[in-house]
Amino acid sequence: MDHRAVPRLAAPAVAVLLALAALASGCTGATVQGRPGASGLRDPYFPRAGNGGYQVEHYALDLDYDPADGELRGTAVLTARAEQGLSSFNLDLSGLKVDAVRVEGVAARYNRTGNELTVRPAEDLKKGEVFRTEVEYHGRPKPVVDPDGSEEGWITTDDGAVAVGEPVGSMGWFPGNHHPSDKATYDVTLTVPEGYEAVSNGELASRTGVGEGRTAFAWRSREPMASYLVTAAVGPFKVTTGSTPSGVAVYNAVSPEEEAGSAAALAKTSEIVEWGSGRFGPYPFGTVGAIVMPSETLGYALETQTKPVYSGAPDETLVLHELAHQWFGNSVSPKSWKDMWLNEGFATYAEWLWAEDHGGVSAQRRFEAFLAGDTSVDPGADGDWAAFPPADPPGADHISDEPVYVRGAMVLHRIRQEVGDEKFFDLLRGWAADHRHGNASTADFTAYAQRRTGHDLKRVWDVWLYGEGRPKAP
Ligand code: ARG
Ligand code: ZN
Repeated sequence: MDHRAVPRLAAPAVAVLLALAALASGCTGATVQGRPGASGLRDPYFPRAGNGGYQVEHYALDLDYDPADGELRGTAVLTARAEQGLSSFNLDLSGLKVDAVRVEGVAARYNRTGNELTVRPAEDLKKGEVFRTEVEYHGRPKPVVDPDGSEEGWITTDDGAVAVGEPVGSMGWFPGNHHPSDKATYDVTLTVPEGYEAVSNGELASRTGVGEGRTAFAWRSREPMASYLVTAAVGPFKVTTGSTPSGVAVYNAVSPEEEAGSAAALAKTSEIVEWGSGRFGPYPFGTVGAIVMPSETLGYALETQTKPVYSGAPDETLVLHELAHQWFGNSVSPKSWKDMWLNEGFATYAEWLWAEDHGGVSAQRRFEAFLAGDTSVDPGADGDWAAFPPADPPGADHISDEPVYVRGAMVLHRIRQEVGDEKFFDLLRGWAADHRHGNASTADFTAYAQRRTGHDLKRVWDVWLYGEGRPKAP
């Protein structure tokens, strides 16, 4: 180093400056490199969701649940990588009692405000360091009510429970970095009393008697997953297993009273996976299936990764919709909750395509029916699909509204009209392939669509994706 670059300061002045720097970073110990991680990722709709300063690589959740008293007892082990020097970092957790936190095996200080659990490791974490955080907790989880009034999180039934997390329900049952931009792999082990099945995403690695009439079900998700898509279900399910022709393992867990009503739609699973693989490219996961809860458990279904959760017996279109999300939403995940139409517009358009490919009305006729409000073609055609542009919902309470679904699908159909079938289906497959197991935003999509098809689609974006008011027939 050029010695002239060394600031010409007297030693006492340097010491004072270092002390000031340490104070400014809130750190008085020997390690000066850490500062607190942000308490939220500034999502446009859920600014406190997720946390800054680290990314989780893997979650190991070990949960013990007794449906008789509704008590959940858990240990969450997060393996994460620090993206900055950290003197403290946050996890999102709503309700429940935290009993202990350890970082790298050493007890850490922690405190809680609102849905933020702040962890202060005994030693600062260095940028780039991979570290293990262990949280022990217990309690009776309370549902998380989202801005549109729907309930998520840990939902109990008369004889069991199910966990669903879109958009921010997962903080109601495990501590984590609860934003879709931080995807990780998961091992979920559920220990339940005799007579119950316990189900989660991915594959069942083992099922072990652990004494006192309890069984531990160990589930593995090898592909990355956004935390809102993690599920856990406990109930007296009827389980059926199988395989699709191309070798994707099928696992269905169905509440006994919903078995008869679910059979026909669930029997379509293989056909849907094969059809989707043709239309959208290879199915992104090693497993597929369903969790059918008693009707009225939830007001909706959710595309929980590899095993969607249904509230009561689904019909074929609903199974199609939730399985389409495995490509669009689950493998290609939104960067923020503003990008929700990339999930729902695509899954809705998949419904239109499935009908078109199976002797139903064409997507073009359905598109025209929505424009005209003609309910003889689609019973939903007189809905409020034009209330706002799909890429700009007017608030967190509107991210699951009709324009996100239907007008989102209409955006895709408008692209198809502009570029023709060959380029359109190439675009769908290219999008799923190039962002497989990743995250993408609306801006990523519009740029990609123009690049991939070679068409200028600005009018489609301006009018259909971002424009206010009800678009007219093109
Ligand atoms: N993503 C789910 C689906 O496609 C719907 C979730 C609705 N959630 C809500 N909070 N409104 O089908
Ligand atoms: Zn959906």
